[in-house]
Amino acid sequence: MSAIFIAVEGLDGSGGTTQTRLLAEWFRARGHNEVATTSEPSTGPVGRFIRTVLDPNHEASVVGDSVLPFLFAGDRRDHLDREVIPSLQRGAAVITDRYYHSSLAYQSLAIGLPAVAALNERFRPPDVTIFLDLEPEESLARILARGATLERFEALDRLRAIYEAYEAVLVHCRARGEHIVRIDARGTIEEVHKRVLAAVEATMESMA
Ligand code: TYD
Repeated sequence: MSAIFIAVEGLDGSGGTTQTRLLAEWFRARGHNEVATTSEPSTGPVGRFIRTVLDPNHEASVVGDSVLPFLFAGDRRDHLDREVIPSLQRGAAVITDRYYHSSLAYQSLAIGLPAVAALNERFRPPDVTIFLDLEPEESLARILARGATLERFEALDRLRAIYEAYEAVLVHCRARGEHIVRIDARGTIEEVHKRVLAAVEATMESMA
């Protein structure tokens, strides 16, 4: 079976981590030779540093919002070179929980979409990007329900701004020829998983 690169995107609380895991299980069950799930920020050195600065206990002014776009882009280069590209070269199905669309949405609030897009334009586009579409109010309710402390980007007004930014990102990336499927992320985990699968299977058919 041939390599496929899938990105899962959406607001915090939209279910990306769960859907990434279920999609990987599906690929394994159908016998794909190698299946890799991964995420950004990555587990590499830059990714680990990003997680420390996103921690709510971290003093935001130490690494300001205008520096973050560069850190995320640096982490992405490292993530691709160390993990994603070698896996794809071996024929793996690689599913990443967040990719540059997250930067284009979240970091555009600090430096604007054109500047973030310039930092990210050379990275390999996914074969398909799944955008898990959930209203900001619902996303906040899910974040609070899991008892999490809110991170830097998770207040309701921020989530609303990020949701709007994602709309612009979808337009921008589709204009570049990217394949992005918007999926209704309401409902049960299993219902959403079925919608994700339909999108992935259609992509695989078009690649065959
Ligand atoms: P995520 O791993 O989704 O959060 P969690 O720790 O809850 O699993 O991502 C951490 C945060 O980083 C999330 O709020 C989104 C943000 N982020 C960006 O702002 N830009 C990016 O490029 C990426 C990959 C993530």
